[in-house]
Amino acid sequence: MDKIRIQGGIPLKGKVVLSGAKNAALPIMSAALLTDGWVTLSNLPALRDIQTEKKLLSFLGASFEEGPEASLRINSSKIQRMEAPYDLVKTMRASILVLGPLVARFGRARVSLPGGCAIGARPINLHLKGLELMGARIDLKHGYVEAKARQLQGAEIVFDIPTVTGTENLMMAACLAKGKTIIGNAAKEPEVVDLANFLTAMGAKIEGVGTDIITIHGVSHLHPTPYRIMADRIEAATYMTAAGITGGEITLVNYDGSCLETVMGKLREAGLEFSQKKTGLTVHGPQKIKSVSLTTRPYPGFPTDMQAQFMALISLGQDTSLIKETIFENRFMHVSELRRMGADIQVSGNQAVIKGVSRLLGAPVMATDLRASASLVLAGLAADGTTEISRVYHLDRGYEGLEKKLLPLGARIERIKE
Ligand code: EPZ
Repeated sequence: MDKIRIQGGIPLKGKVVLSGAKNAALPIMSAALLTDGWVTLSNLPALRDIQTEKKLLSFLGASFEEGPEASLRINSSKIQRMEAPYDLVKTMRASILVLGPLVARFGRARVSLPGGCAIGARPINLHLKGLELMGARIDLKHGYVEAKARQLQGAEIVFDIPTVTGTENLMMAACLAKGKTIIGNAAKEPEVVDLANFLTAMGAKIEGVGTDIITIHGVSHLHPTPYRIMADRIEAATYMTAAGITGGEITLVNYDGSCLETVMGKLREAGLEFSQKKTGLTVHGPQKIKSVSLTTRPYPGFPTDMQAQFMALISLGQDTSLIKETIFENRFMHVSELRRMGADIQVSGNQAVIKGVSRLLGAPVMATDLRASASLVLAGLAADGTTEISRVYHLDRGYEGLEKKLLPLGARIERIKE
């Protein structure tokens, strides 16, 4: 397993070009199953999870072509299998996003239950309840979901929790259902909006996406379309935090800070400054980081996917901060690793109290999940001495070419092949 070695303490300066958003690309690739022509997707990020999604779609029978300017063309005319096997789903929970499209277009699907993951149990009961309301018969057998429906019917669905992939799965299913579907307490994440924009470009009739109530009027079929995936806002926020934690200055090329209002508000509280130019958004890191408290919330609240990275930043704060994680039950696994680098963090339940320290010290640490590993990279960039991060395959799932993007900024970072 590869490692990443970082010599910390260097203020990062320069430009970063953002990649496409992983959490928009995955549902949009799954949505290609809803039509039978060549869908052309551009700005797809080169990530492990995208490769896994391609493997899953080709297992189902989809074919692929390289399109112009590194775009990917997907054709779902010859889908022969309706099954997402365990050995693929276990490596990527987002595989569950083929469930809605398969049932909607082919009337059946057999998808391995994703099981828990490092950050929590992450059940899919709300996905299944919504499909049942739409008339699907759902059986759970031998670790698989078996779903059948001759024709999905529009329904009124209200989520107990605004689940992101639950909203995406049911929005995709509803596009080809008979009649009108209303999803109440829907997720409002920008990636859900990006998926809806793609579906609408394919001829879907969707209203209210980005609000609590999404209405979908089913149509008989969807036509293929070219589409450009939105920029990755979590990658953007991670590089903003890199400028903050190293006291440097990074310009995010062709980015205007959209979809990150809450995160940028908290980064400003920590002392970072932003200036929007024609070339992009420049982030100035402070000499002294201010302690800031926050609670993670569904969009437009502070995103759970930035909690670990922000904790690394405020571990160097001048005072004490409180972070409350309300989305996942076990998303503090970066804490013990940050402690090994000298951070002073106490966890009780879903709250972490972070007492700022004057400096972090490089150390050998281990990545446990995607955003925890990003947090350790940030800490390593700021720490005195050398940090070695093992199990960086977690990073490769969600950050395209991390060291290639950090090296031009002056970071002393290298990947050690093991
Ligand atoms: C999506 O996961 C993202 N993944 C996650 O990003 C992100 O952290 C999460 O949304 C929250 O924003 C993708 O988009 C591929 P949820 P998802 O369903 O959809 C509970 C990353 O780092 N819940 O919104 O799985 C669930 O347990 C990843 O890129 C149920 O109880 O998250 C959790 O506590 C990590 N029953 C809460 O809702 C359900 O049926 C929110 O989960 C569904 C969810």
